[in-house]
Amino acid sequence: MDTKKHWEKIYLDKTHTEVTWFQIKPLISLELIDELNLGANELIIDVGAGSSTLAENLLERGFQALTVLDISQKALDNIRKRLGDKITYLVSDFKALATDKRFKLWHDRAVFHFLTHKSDRLIYQQRLKEHMASDGYLLISTFASDGPEKCSGLKIVQYSKEALIDEFKEDFVFIKSRNETHISPKGLEQKFIYCLFKRRQQ
Ligand SMILES: C[S@@+](CC[C@H](N)C(=O)[O-])C[C@H]1O[C@@H](n2cnc3c(N)ncnc32)[C@H](O)[C@@H]1O
Repeated sequence: MDTKKHWEKIYLDKTHTEVTWFQIKPLISLELIDELNLGANELIIDVGAGSSTLAENLLERGFQALTVLDISQKALDNIRKRLGDKITYLVSDFKALATDKRFKLWHDRAVFHFLTHKSDRLIYQQRLKEHMASDGYLLISTFASDGPEKCSGLKIVQYSKEALIDEFKEDFVFIKSRNETHISPKGLEQKFIYCLFKRRQQ
């Protein structure tokens, strides 16, 4: 499967408010980020941001160093229409993430769960470590163990809190988790798990 083609088509065929993962406001992400009390100039990246409203909500909170990354140009164009040059846009596969920045917070909602092969998860973890500050935080959200088996028509890996901790335990210390029952625009329930981690001090 050509990942980029798949996602460009999704965002061409549907408006950003029609995709199943659309949230008017990403409340759980915001609550967990608020608890970190990060400074306004800390570098934050939303990996696989799609057309999410997380960035504008973080701008409203005063954050000034936001980056959104997505493999789909169209997805990020939707954000650019709303936010212009207030944030940084990276149209890229996370595997090819190339920046000198070291992020204090790496946010991922519903991207890691597409990585059904161990080799892809290892690349993800490699990029995460390369581009995260030594005292950085990881906020990651996937479909839960009782959530859907597919997302956007693609097979995904469901995670329990324990499974996510196990996945990241070598380099990250678990802080807390939250569950979410997301209601899609068509009224379908999707169970998500969110885990917040802090990078282990070397
Ligand atoms: C289910 S959507 C979630 C979007 C957003 N995080 C949200 O919660 O609204 C998954 C997103 O990941 C992006 N994506 C998928 N594979 C990717 C990859 N390898 N590198 C970067 N982005 C990717 C897709 O284009 C899509 O926007």
